[in-house]
Parts: sequence; structure tokens; C-alpha cells
Amino acid sequence: MATLYSTTCRSHSYSLLPSSSYSPSINGQNHTQRLNFSSCIAKRVLPAKVSFPFRRNSHLNVVFMQDGAVATPVNPVENESPFKKLKDGLLSSAPSTEEMKEAASFDVNKDKSTVSITVVGASGDLAKKKIFPALFALYYEGCLPEHFTIFGYARSKMTDAELRNMVSKTLTCRIDKRENCGEKMDEFLKRCFYHSGQYGSRENFAELDKKLKEHEGGRVSNRLFYLSIPPNIFIDAVKCASSSASSGIGWTRVIVEKPFGRDSGSSAALTKALKQYLDEDQIFRIDHYLGKELVENLSVLRFSNLIFEPLWSRQYIRNVQLIFSEDFGTEGRGGYFDNYGIIRDIMQNHLLQILALFAMETPVSLDAEDIRNEKVKVLRSMRPLQLEDVVVGQYKSHTKGGVTYPAYTDDNTVPKGSLTPTFAAAALFIDNARWDGVPFLMKAGKALHNKSAEIRVQFRHVPGNLYNRNFGTDLDRATNELVIRVQPDEAIYLKINNKVPGLGMRLDRSNLNLHYAARYSKEIPDAYERLLLDAIEGERRLFIRSDELDAAWALFTPVLKELEGKKIIPEYYPYGSRGPVGAHYLAARYKVRWGDLGIEQ
Ligand code: BG6
Repeated sequence: MATLYSTTCRSHSYSLLPSSSYSPSINGQNHTQRLNFSSCIAKRVLPAKVSFPFRRNSHLNVVFMQDGAVATPVNPVENESPFKKLKDGLLSSAPSTEEMKEAASFDVNKDKSTVSITVVGASGDLAKKKIFPALFALYYEGCLPEHFTIFGYARSKMTDAELRNMVSKTLTCRIDKRENCGEKMDEFLKRCFYHSGQYGSRENFAELDKKLKEHEGGRVSNRLFYLSIPPNIFIDAVKCASSSASSGIGWTRVIVEKPFGRDSGSSAALTKALKQYLDEDQIFRIDHYLGKELVENLSVLRFSNLIFEPLWSRQYIRNVQLIFSEDFGTEGRGGYFDNYGIIRDIMQNHLLQILALFAMETPVSLDAEDIRNEKVKVLRSMRPLQLEDVVVGQYKSHTKGGVTYPAYTDDNTVPKGSLTPTFAAAALFIDNARWDGVPFLMKAGKALHNKSAEIRVQFRHVPGNLYNRNFGTDLDRATNELVIRVQPDEAIYLKINNKVPGLGMRLDRSNLNLHYAARYSKEIPDAYERLLLDAIEGERRLFIRSDELDAAWALFTPVLKELEGKKIIPEYYPYGSRGPVGAHYLAARYKVRWGDLGIEQ
């Protein structure tokens, strides 16, 4: 099969920078560096700032096709440098060696600026398991700029050597089986340092600033702070970091992790407080599901394949299902979780973000603001969730094969008698012309029978189907279903009806299957790698804007208040089961069957 050489994509928008803006080095002195660069850029599938290049000049150079379509020849970009074409993903087939060479020798790093990344909350779980490994993977792939420094910042006392030791234990990421991994790891660790300080101390951040300056060595200094800390100390940390450790002559950006509040009110208060110290374009609200490969691919699938977009509406789609399940409980995170519950932890952000991307109208371009404008329109067209459209559950202890799995409330950090849901199913609706009446069903749960995240699109029945009698009475089972398996074992497959080979006329259901592991040899980057790289490059497409956040909370706040106010008792389900039966009744009310629980998934 031909490989579409999907070159990158990144357009580096450095609007916050002074004139000498940073760009990643591609001025490799040796072959390895060049290879690294090309592997880094080749990884990116969607152009960050590729506007649909032909739309704006459609009055120029258009060609009218026989079928009435209008095509534009590629002339407008012919004169662009290979590097620009690579960045913008405009080389649709494998570039020639000459083109690659020319691109790789193009010096975009001549200003030698530097990036300092400070992981605030460096000794926490997220930092150890995700952030440092992602930074290392970016380093290994040659995606970090030539001059960069990483600082861990936390309250515990630690030396640089101790931080390096701590970090080295979790760098066993996807890269660890690669060539020269040990060497690269040592090089990477040498660029990691530690500063111990209180989150609310201006003085401690000023000390950090001093250390950062020493490392930056007078270059244009760009600074990224990753707040991997509990929300109750966000504001203190932002206040101190912005007043005492902002960059004087480069950009300063802050990545914040959810939870962004608990409801509309607290989220608005958080946004207001953040904006006292930062501009909106300095705030990168991360939802790591947006960095997952198949979520990023959603728009490619839909907008670059003629066969999907025309079907993407109430006319052909019966329902859409967004499913998240984990086969483990809250182990060790009960304290955090009990204050939030599964609706806030997964639905209001991860699943809703996927829904917005799935359902949005075609954006004017791939620019962050154009995409986020469309997502926000979807969210604002949605009906606030009603209590009767929600089912909540909580896992209880279960013994299987001689092993006893704990109940949610067996967790020491969870208050006895807690009613916090560890499972929820919900039916949501988008009241716009495209999706009127189509149920978007969400289901999310912990301690279920498997770990998976998927999007299922069930299509309508074929009208006047000649083969109806071959399907018996259950026509729903004969409808097409498109499954986008976000994880694990990434895949996109379409269930179709097919004739079983032979002299008879027996039909079965078969899958047209794009199984990533079989199709692509390269491993899939972790979501945090993509998002960190985007934040460094100032690409906001995959980060949540404050109006998106407001719209997301507006959908869920009333029902959360009702669930909590009325002390609704969750339906208990055994650890490791398929969840509460109520989820089936909810789906059945809208004539839907959960696709993940069918005989053939
Ligand atoms: C986090 C939730 O946002 O996502 C966790 O807080 C959940 O509860 C996690 O386990 C799931 O992420 P992933 O990438 O492992 O599916």
C-alpha cells in the first residue's frame, strides 16, 4: 500500500515573541540530527496553521471539473521552500532526498533562543509518570530546541542528583527499547535541575528565576511552567511564578491540568483569578485526550475523506456513543476522586471534548481559533443534561478466582458512605440542524471489565433494503457501525454486511479494519508529548479556551447540583463487571444498544 508521507505540519506561530523568535533547530551538524529532525516533523499529521490554502484564493487558478467540482492546481505553493512545504504538510508524497536535504539545512535556529520548562509539582505522580517521560521522548526524537533546560520545582528538599535519580526511574517510556537510549537518557538528565520552594512564595520563585537566568545565558528566554499541582494552590503558584519568574524578553506560558473548578461558578472564579496574572493566550488548559492520536485523527478522517463527511449528520447517523472504561478502581486517588466523581473526571472534559470535535461544523481553517470557535458552537448548541438522562453507579467489592477486589468505599481516602459515582452513563443532545434528535450517549466507568476508550457511530437502516429478509427481525444489527478505538490497540473499523462466499446467499457482518499496529510500524506518541510540543510552539489548537470551558460546565453543572443536592444513590456494580444495568435502560429509552457490549464488538 502506498504511504502518504505525512510531513509536519507545524507552523510555528511565535506571535508573543520579540522579533528574534525561537524556532526548533534543524541545522543539524551531523546525519543523526537530521534524521531526528525529520522523524520529529514526520510525526505530525495535521498542519498546525495550514489554512485550507486554496479556499482564500479560490477565484484564482481554479479548474472546473466535469462533475461540477472546482479544483485548484498547486501552483501557489510551488515556489515555497521545501522546509515550508514540509512544515505545512504540503508535500503529499514522500519528499525527494534533495528536498529533505534542503529542508534540513535550512537554519531556523539562528537566533539561538532558549526554552526553560519548569515542572511545578515535580515529585507528583503525573510529573513522574507522564511529564518527564514525555519530555524525554521529545528530546530523543529531536523535537526540543537546541537550548533547553528543565527544572523540577516542589516543596520537598531534593538535590539535582536526587531529581535525576527519581526521573530516571520513570523514563522507561516508549523510547526505552530504542538505540542509544541510555546515552540519550544521560544527556537528557544533565539538562534537568531541581529547585525546592513553596508554591506560594514569591521569594522561592525569585530564586528559581535566578537559576533559570544562569542557564539561559543571556539568550532570548522562553519559559513554560507546567502546573502539576492540586487546584487549591494553582492561583498562588501562578501569582508567584508570573511576578517573580516570568521571562523578561521571551514568552511565558503556563500549562494547567484539570480540574478546572467543580462547576460553573468555581471554574469562572478560577479563570478570573488566573487572568489577573496571565493573558488568555498564555494559559494552556490541557485535556490530554485531545493529544491522543486517534482523537487528533478525527478531523482528518472526516474532512479529508469524501465518503464520511456527507454521512455526518442526523440524516444518516442514528446515534453516537462515547465510551470510556478502566479495569481498575481509584486506587490511591480516592481523596481527589471523591471530591469530583466520574462525571467531572471524564465526561465533562475528555468525552465532551471528543464529542465537540466529532460534531463541529467544518472550520474555516485549521487555525486554533477557527477550530475552537466551531467546538464552542457545538457546546453552546447542546441541551443541559437532565437528571432523567443520567445513570450513576459505584463499584462494590467482588471476589473472583479467589481474589477479592475492593469496593470504592474500601479506599482509606474515601469517606465511608460516599455517594460519589465511579460510573455514569448519559444521553446528550445537540439542538442544531445537523444533529437534531440524534442521541450522543456517553458512558464512563472505573473498575469495569476492560480498559478502553472508543467512539462508536451507528448508522441508520438502509431504506428499502433488498436484503432485509436476510437479517431476520433485528434490523438494528444490520446497520453499519464505524468504530474509532482510541485505546488500547488503536484502530478504525467499519462494520459492513457482506456475502459469505459460497453458492448460497448468506450475509454476515465483517469489518473493514484499519488496525494501527498492522498498518504502521512506528509506535504512537503519548498524548503528553504532542501537547507539550504544542505548548512550546505556541500552538493552541488542542488546548481548551475559557469560553469552551464555560460552555462545558454549563451543560453539566445543573445535573451535578441535582445529583448532589438530592443525594441520589448510585447503582452498585461489582468490581470488574460491565457496569450498572441502568445504562442499558437509558440507552433503550433512545432505541440504542451499547455497541461495546454486543455479541460482536
Ligand atoms: C485522567 C483521569 O484525566 O484520565 C483519570 O483523572 C483517568 O481518572 C485518566 O484514569 C485516564 O487517562 P488515560 O490516558 O490513561 O486513558
